[in-house]
Amino acid sequence: MNKPFSQSCEENQEVILNSISPYLQPETRVLEIGSGTGQHAVYFGENIPQLYWQCSDLAENLPGINVWIDEANLPNLARPVELDVCSHWPENKYDVIFSANTFHIMNQAQVEGCMRRCVDCLEPGGCLIIYGPFNYNGSYTSTSNENFDSWLKSRDPESGIKHFEWLNKLAQRGNMQLVDDIAMPANNRILIWKCETLAG
Ligand SMILES: C[S@@+](CC[C@H](N)C(=O)[O-])C[C@H]1O[C@@H](n2cnc3c(N)ncnc32)[C@H](O)[C@@H]1O
Repeated sequence: MNKPFSQSCEENQEVILNSISPYLQPETRVLEIGSGTGQHAVYFGENIPQLYWQCSDLAENLPGINVWIDEANLPNLARPVELDVCSHWPENKYDVIFSANTFHIMNQAQVEGCMRRCVDCLEPGGCLIIYGPFNYNGSYTSTSNENFDSWLKSRDPESGIKHFEWLNKLAQRGNMQLVDDIAMPANNRILIWKCETLAG
């Protein structure tokens, strides 16, 4: 098995970690959706040793993630589990769910299902953290995002950059409130929603 590699992970991992580290307290249990190569998991796991990080992805990506995990040999990094947002979800609850560059790959129904299932998988007070490009007020935030969206749709007409307002409505329907919307390099954002703690 060749070790997969993502140049974009290499470039964005430090800025992402700097932005989300306030939400990654010691002992935080993180579920990552669409881990891809597993590079983010290894980088975050190495840099915050008190975290517990659970990678996941479609079955076809698990062997590659395991190559990274074997090499890193970190006690806080679990073996990846299969998670297709449409079908397989873990029974466990997590303090944080993190996903990078996945929503524009998925179609609307997949994103909708993902947002709904995340609510079930988060502890009260837990956070959903989504990194990637988003549209605001019905518009692209840059020409490069517009070109990227055209390219995505040429590969899969149902994929594409999602609208922030639509995502936020889905989150609110699940009783999650937006607590942060952070500008990132290359016209990306980090959106963070917090699960409202139920009274009593
Ligand atoms: C562009 S890659 C991003 C990978 C990694 N998070 C990163 O930042 O490099 C998109 C990822 O979403 C995953 N993915 C696509 N459809 C999915 C689905 N229905 N359920 C779960 N993951 C999915 C892909 O397998 C892939 O790993």
